[in-house]
Amino acid sequence: MGSIWTVAVTRKIPDAGLRPLQETSEIKLWDQELPPSPEELDGLLDGCDGAITLLTDRIDGPVLDRHPGLRVISNFAVGYDNIDVPAASERGVLVCNTPEVLTSATADHTWALLLAAARRIPESIAYVRDGKWKTWGPLLLLGREVSGGTIGIVGLGRIGKEVAKRARGFDMRVLAFDPFEDAAFAKEHGITYVPLEQLVAESDFVTLHVALTDETHHLIGATELSRMKPTAILVNASRGQVVDTAALVDALRSGSILGAALDVTDPEPLSADHPLVNMTSCIVVPHTASATVQTRDRMAELAAKNLLAGLSGERPPAAVNADEVM
Ligand code: GLV
Repeated sequence: MGSIWTVAVTRKIPDAGLRPLQETSEIKLWDQELPPSPEELDGLLDGCDGAITLLTDRIDGPVLDRHPGLRVISNFAVGYDNIDVPAASERGVLVCNTPEVLTSATADHTWALLLAAARRIPESIAYVRDGKWKTWGPLLLLGREVSGGTIGIVGLGRIGKEVAKRARGFDMRVLAFDPFEDAAFAKEHGITYVPLEQLVAESDFVTLHVALTDETHHLIGATELSRMKPTAILVNASRGQVVDTAALVDALRSGSILGAALDVTDPEPLSADHPLVNMTSCIVVPHTASATVQTRDRMAELAAKNLLAGLSGERPPAAVNADEVM
């Protein structure tokens, strides 16, 4: 069968996503390690009916206007703040994402970060590697107890809920802040909804799971950080811009909070000489919360399914503006 469509794929993705595309489409694949520049992206999107994009690709009205043949933007991510969705809807362009398939991996990773920060795992590894381990020490590398503590989950959506379920295994008190309350889930899992102000003040661990929107930009700033306990740890696996980076640096420097564990940062990437990278009280990993072999395969499969369904005029399994566009 000849190619029906021409599609752009803005970075190498797992074969699980490329295979179904190969059967129907000519693929314009950006196979470099770094994302295409805006000009290179334009070159790639030229003549395309649809695209699998990444969170590093900015897709807005002017980009869509330059490529009027584009009918589907299938983002290889659950977050789609890199796409101007209203601009896409106005132009009849479907926007898709990859929810559900990465929920567990992201919740697991949140716990990995939380535990690593609480128990000072990166520092401990460095201590051994540096040849400093001479004996067992009663005061050596003391961290914070996780079990029995209070976790505050900001954004009790799909990922926040999985984080909450895991907290039960640690016998924790679970607080949540979310304007959309799911009373049945909260009751079943022993979660108490509280205002953000109370959540930050009472939690030993504050973990962020909101989408980046105008409302959540800098949701955690100097005020919220100043209300946190001096023994508290902030975990962010949502988007870097949800936290005011300068305020976080100040809070860590002044000791007004104990630590932070960040999967996402603002800006991204952080350079190796950034203060957050060089504080022992801060752990930074390179936006890898969904990075398991299994999850990335599922994301690739879903991104391809979304794209092909949209191009065929069918409702994609995960489209964010199907009601506006179809
Ligand atoms: C990753 O950050 C995603 O939104 O999937």
